Order: sequence, then C-alpha cells, then structure tokens
Amino acid sequence: MHTERFDFLVIGSGLAGLTYALKASQFGRVCVLTKGEVTESNTSWAQGGIAAAVGEADSWELHERDTLIAGAGLCDENAVRHLVQHAPEAIRWLIQLGAQFDFSGSDLALGREGGHSRNRIVHHADATGAEVERAMVAATRSNSNIVVFQHAFVTKLLTSGGRCIGATAEIDGLGPKVFEARAVLLATGGCGRMYQHTTNPRVATADGIALALDLGANVQNMEFMQFHPTTLYHPQMRSFLISEALRGAGGTLRNHIGRRFMYDYDPRLELAPRDVVARAVEEEMKKHGTWCVYLDMTHLKRETLTHEFPMIYEKLKQIGLEMEKEWIPVVPAQHYSCGGVVTDLEGRTSIPGLYAAGEVASTGVHGANRLASNSLLEALVFAVAAADASKNDQFAAISIVASDPVHCISEAESIRLRRALQRTMTANVGIVRSLDGLRDTLGVVNGIIEEYDSLPSSPYSQHPLETRNLLIAARSVVEGALHRKSNIGLHFNQDLVT
Ligand code: SIN
Repeated sequence: MHTERFDFLVIGSGLAGLTYALKASQFGRVCVLTKGEVTESNTSWAQGGIAAAVGEADSWELHERDTLIAGAGLCDENAVRHLVQHAPEAIRWLIQLGAQFDFSGSDLALGREGGHSRNRIVHHADATGAEVERAMVAATRSNSNIVVFQHAFVTKLLTSGGRCIGATAEIDGLGPKVFEARAVLLATGGCGRMYQHTTNPRVATADGIALALDLGANVQNMEFMQFHPTTLYHPQMRSFLISEALRGAGGTLRNHIGRRFMYDYDPRLELAPRDVVARAVEEEMKKHGTWCVYLDMTHLKRETLTHEFPMIYEKLKQIGLEMEKEWIPVVPAQHYSCGGVVTDLEGRTSIPGLYAAGEVASTGVHGANRLASNSLLEALVFAVAAADASKNDQFAAISIVASDPVHCISEAESIRLRRALQRTMTANVGIVRSLDGLRDTLGVVNGIIEEYDSLPSSPYSQHPLETRNLLIAARSVVEGALHRKSNIGLHFNQDLVT
C-alpha cells in the first residue's frame, strides 16, 4: 500500500481539526483527512455562537462559574479555567482570520443562552458555525503547508511500540492509503447518528471514539449525552435546531394549552441549563400525552426576527410558519456528546502520539452537562494547545506494516443494523432512562455487534464501517449509563433514588 509521510495528521475538518492544522502548519507539513466535503461538519451547523467573556460587565471568573454550575460538579476545574481564560484570545484569532461576527457599534454584539449569567455569546446571526467554518476553510486552502484529502475515510489508527504513528484510509478514487505522521489528531466530531433524532449532520458517526477504543485509549463520560430542548417538530424537517439564542431573546416555552410550564420546573425558567429544560419538556409532553411543546416568539416583530435569526426564519417560512404570528412546535433531540476520548490540557490522549480535540474529546470542561456555546470554544482552545504540544513529537524509528483490511458488510445489512441501533438507543438511552431499558439495550447492541461480525464480507463501503463505529460508541454510552449510580447532569435514571 502506498505510504504518505507528513509531520501532522488530522482526522476531521471541523473547527478543531482546521484550527490544529493551521497552528501546526507553522511547525511542519499537515495532512487533513475528511470523510465528506471539507465543509461538512458539526461546526458548520452550529447556530448559537461562541461563549467568551469579552463584554464590559463580564469576566472569566463569571464564565468559569457558569460552566462549573452547568457541569453539575463533574467538570475538571483546571480545564475550565484554561478554557475561559483563553476565550477572548480565541475570538481575536478568528477575527484576524477573517470570521465576521455581529457588532453593536464598535463592540461585539453579545447574545444570551441558557445557564449564562451574562450576555457573552459572540455570533454571526444564527449561522455562526457556517461563518467560522467558511473563514477556517479559506485560511486552510491558502496555506501551502496543509494538504486536504476529501472523501477519505480512516479505517484504522496505526501504532508501533504503543505509540500512534499514523492511520490507514480509503480515499474515493484512490483506494487504500497509509499515512505516517509524528502526531495524529482525532477531530472527528460527535456521534448523534446513533439516535433516530439528532441535530447532527450525517457524518456524526462516532468514528474517532471507535478508532480510539480500538487502540485501548481511555474514553469517559459517554453517558452524558446532551439533548437539545428545542428542535423543530415537523414531518418534513424533523430535528432542525431552533437555537437556544431564541430563548435568550425572550422566547417562552408553552404547552398545548398555552401555559408557560417552566414555572413548574426551575426558577431560571427557559434559561436554565439545557439538561433541566430538556427534562422539563420531556416531562411536560409525557404528563399531557402530547407530541411536542411550543416555543413562542410572537413578542418580537418580524423585522427583529429576520435580522437576528434570518436562517431559522427562512426555514420556518418554507413550511408555512411565520414566527411573529405562530408558536413553533418543538421537541428535544440528541445534540452533543459531552464525553469522549480523555485528554489532558494539551489534547494528549492516553496513547502517545495521539491527540484529540473538539466533540470527540473529553477534556473535562463539560462535566455532566455542557454549557451552551462552550463547544466551539473548547474545539478552538484545546486544538491550539494540542498543536503546540505536538510540535516536538518525533517520527517513530520503524516503518509501517500494512494491517489487515477491516471487515465490511453489505450496505443493505448495514442500514438494517443501524436502524435497529437507533431504535433501541432512542427508546432506552434518551433523556430519561431505566435500569431495565439500559440492560435491554446493552444486550441488543452487543447482539448487533456479533451479528455484524458474523455477516459475510463485502467490498469496502463507508456506511457499514460507520455503523460499526456507532455500535462500538453506543456500547460505551450504555455501559457508562449502567455504571453511573446517581442521577447527575444529563444522566437521569428513573430507577435511581437520587
Ligand atoms: C444553539 O444554538 O442552541 C446551540 C448552541 C450550542 O449547542 O452550544
């Protein structure tokens, strides 16, 4: 198999991957492998923004306090401090790179989201992720030290003497290839596609989690799966995100008879942390036997809504819904994985030579529940640290031996198995869990993995390998949920007393 040699290998092209690539390109040649188009990532879909204490009435101490409260006592305090102290610098870097954020006069316009005690969300209307990704991709394309392979699916991480030294990948049109590097960064994003309803794009198939587990890397907190309280409930546009920024702008949640039900659940009302609001929405729907609740934005005029939330306004108009006149039907959907591959403050995993940043990583910042708009920030801050830490890594002294090809099944079987996985995860590993449901799902997931492994081999195709990655990561989610003996943050098991 043909081997390519770079100083740094990056797997994934969202904000974490491209930040690392741009920073590491100062120290050597970088290769980015991305399984779709370079712009296809969770980053591009982010609506809300990036949290940073840049306002006059704000401070990193307040941002730190809000992050720790949302994380329900399970955050790594050093990681949180590192995050919030580096936030303003990260925003300045993005602006230098050409990202356009909204301004109010000469100051950044700052939005508000749940769990924040101040307005501190730096944003580009309601399409911040797309704008940030645009700036990152432009900077990457004009950097001669970075090579991007699109439609390049990583099938295995390679090790020698316990050190990660590269990866094998299948590249559309080129076939299998080996990539060797001094350091490898996992920046593969989330795992939302293990559920039936998710705000994540189709590429969010837990690839980095499965690759890391295959090497025996430490993975933690996978049971802390964040469900966004407000995604559109509509047959043609199910799971379209209705940003928390709308609640930050005064949106209220109502049940089918118009009652503002958050009064019954939390004094912080619609701006309580996301786990609290999502559980309240779920409870309210169960209590009344309804399919959804409603987000009421009718206190704002059309001009304000189209100015502040142009993308959401336009999407809703396409289904005949005018936000200034009608309530938006909403339901919770999977949104973000707070757990992941364990890293230190410099993005190092437990495997030498292997780094992780962004949603795939567990830096300790999110604890049991992520504070809104801390995810793009985490991707930025920890990718910068990882690039700096990996600059001194050296090539291993050995040459790479090609590994066995991975077992691939047919796409038809893969679709069937993935649907079975999504059904059981949605039924039993959602916002409210039970012991029986979790045990049942663990059995189902293990059974599907066995079935996958026993099915006849088919030629290489991406869908089955993604399905296997989802299965491996789902097993971690369920095992984590079964091991967690108290209800905290995003983990709620109705059979536990606390
Ligand atoms: C949103 O816009 O509601 C999502 C922001 C986030 O997930 O942090």
